[in-house]
Amino acid sequence: MLRIAVLVSGGGTNLQAIIDAIADGTITNTEIAGVISNNRNAYALERAKRAGIPACVVSPKDYADRETFHQALLDTVSSFAVDLIVLAGYLVVIPEKMIDAYPNRIINIHPSLIPAFCGTGFYGLKVHEAVLARGVKVTGATVHFVDKGTDTGPIIMQKAVPVENGDTPKQLQQRVMEQAEWILLPAVIDKIANGKVSVTDGIVRVDVSFSQTETGKDIH
Ligand code: GRF
Repeated sequence: MLRIAVLVSGGGTNLQAIIDAIADGTITNTEIAGVISNNRNAYALERAKRAGIPACVVSPKDYADRETFHQALLDTVSSFAVDLIVLAGYLVVIPEKMIDAYPNRIINIHPSLIPAFCGTGFYGLKVHEAVLARGVKVTGATVHFVDKGTDTGPIIMQKAVPVENGDTPKQLQQRVMEQAEWILLPAVIDKIANGKVSVTDGIVRVDVSFSQTETGKDIH
């Protein structure tokens, strides 16, 4: 059984997709040991509460300096005794000592096809604004292992989404979430939970046999 901690900052639709995927069997062999948010107002915390999942807030505002916040975050994650850390809309930079403690055991969902539209400053709606400004016709989402860079870790899986004529950033963000993020993140967690993901020299190999059927997710 893969024990995971999910780190959140906002609405928690990706957390909800994981909760729903475990409930409907899209994700197997996995349990969410806990949810951690840097933002005490994150609706993701309400989603965790409704699902009966232990949740807590570790906010930088509650600590004298960055170092004590980093240690508190690491101690809190450690207290859940997890195998994998999932960043699901988490907007805080992961401390290097946490990456050292969990090598290739932290994954992140980014709302573009990395290496496009990623790195410092590319998060949330800003990603989709840049996609529309550049005029690309295909975007999507990427799940990758977290390393000490920004969106630079080994890519695990990606899913493409069309950009439609006249899309607004919000419309495009919603399509990327519905058609890519909410399908991709559960799929990657299930693959990891069932030993189907390996990394060699920074390149990820995913065993695509027995892949789960992809179903859309209505999440509100
Ligand atoms: C989403 O666009 C996701 O790609 C990004 O954070 C945004 C909010 O995610 N990582 P959520 O609804 O809080 O899961």
